[in-house]
Amino acid sequence: PRSYRITLLPGDGIGPEVVSVAKDVLYLAGSLEGIEFRFREVPVGGAALDSTGVPLPEETLTTAKESDAVLLGAIGGYKWDANEKHLKPETGLLQLRAGLGVFANLRPATVLPQLVDASTLKKEVAEGVDIMVVRELTGGIYFGKPRGFGSNDKGEDIGFNTEIYSVPEIDRIARVAFEVARKRRGQLCSVDKANVLEASMLWRKTVTALASEFSDVEISHMYVDNAAMQLIRNPKQFDTIVTNNIFGDILSDEASMLTGSIGMLPSASIGASGPGLFEPIHGSAPDIAGQDKANPLATVLSAAMLLRYGLGEEQAAKRIEDAVINTLNKGFRTGDIFSEGTTLVGCKRMGAEVLKSVDSQATVA
Ligand code: NAD
Ligand code: IPM
Ligand code: MN
Repeated sequence: PRSYRITLLPGDGIGPEVVSVAKDVLYLAGSLEGIEFRFREVPVGGAALDSTGVPLPEETLTTAKESDAVLLGAIGGYKWDANEKHLKPETGLLQLRAGLGVFANLRPATVLPQLVDASTLKKEVAEGVDIMVVRELTGGIYFGKPRGFGSNDKGEDIGFNTEIYSVPEIDRIARVAFEVARKRRGQLCSVDKANVLEASMLWRKTVTALASEFSDVEISHMYVDNAAMQLIRNPKQFDTIVTNNIFGDILSDEASMLTGSIGMLPSASIGASGPGLFEPIHGSAPDIAGQDKANPLATVLSAAMLLRYGLGEEQAAKRIEDAVINTLNKGFRTGDIFSEGTTLVGCKRMGAEVLKSVDSQATVA
């Protein structure tokens, strides 16, 4: 059988709850396709801080690098919020993304017909929305130097960061986005702040120059403030969006709400080579952690992206996505996507129902 090594990084808060569900689903869907998984679980974020003193232990990065794909839950929590920067869970996550070189973060926001009622937007606005946000993940203001704390010439304390992009960094993320758009509806909208920021001016120039290589893709440009507004006004105008690290962070959370809940949105982060990193776009949700309330579907769907983009196992990915649809069709909902007439379930029960749906495919297939 085909065999893969999977690194599991449950992390903090609801992370362990949702990763546990996704692992079981991944295992079962794989086994129905003759795939064998060897899982290895290592700490990251607050969990790693508590057990090793750092948010990304060397062993965690090495394990991740030596595996075929990495599945992460979420990191962070009140307990570590006041830590110095190098001892923050979030720093561990950024080190992991940088260490794996996963510069392209794909965040699909699809409004499923079953969840139209869970959207805060009017039915006719939300219905049929299918957007792919391609977020640059290892550059920009998250990593730019100089950064830090200091004081200005008036002696006042300051904090500062640098938004910085090189042409090769923009070129490689734009290439990924053009390729993604080409396989979708052929429309790419590049989002920037080129009316104000130099890094955005270079971004727009570089994306524009590349467009001639992708004449089958229709390219447009939009300022980020307008894009934030257009996403709510008329989200169906978007097919594929490409943008920098921080705009992509914000716009993908915004796009998640079109679909009903942030608890539904998966992501895939890929680099030029080596294992990909797969994680829901949500955080550790400390407000509901440990209460069996989390929606595990974003992580389950991230496992499907792991199969598709990380391992090239399209059939097994489809099995998971079909099982999620099937489970929603049966009316099961966690609190974040609940609407009248559906059945409220917790994280574990939702996982069990998805497993049942995957299992029932065994006889169908
Ligand atoms: P969050 O995404 O954790 O939570 C925002 C809101 O969405 C909360 O009300 C939460 O209960 C809800 N929510 C999130 N995921 C859900 C799910 N699967 N099911 C149901 N409801 C869900 O964002 P936050 O509160 O701003 O951040 C909390 C912590 O998570 C912080 O420490 C932050 O740094 C961290 N964080 C980590 C990641 C990551 O690991 N990739 C991403 C975002 C935030
Ligand atoms: C995300 C998160 C992270 C980010 C944080 C926790 C570092 O918000 O994955 O979207 O900003 O990238
Ligand atoms: Mn985010």
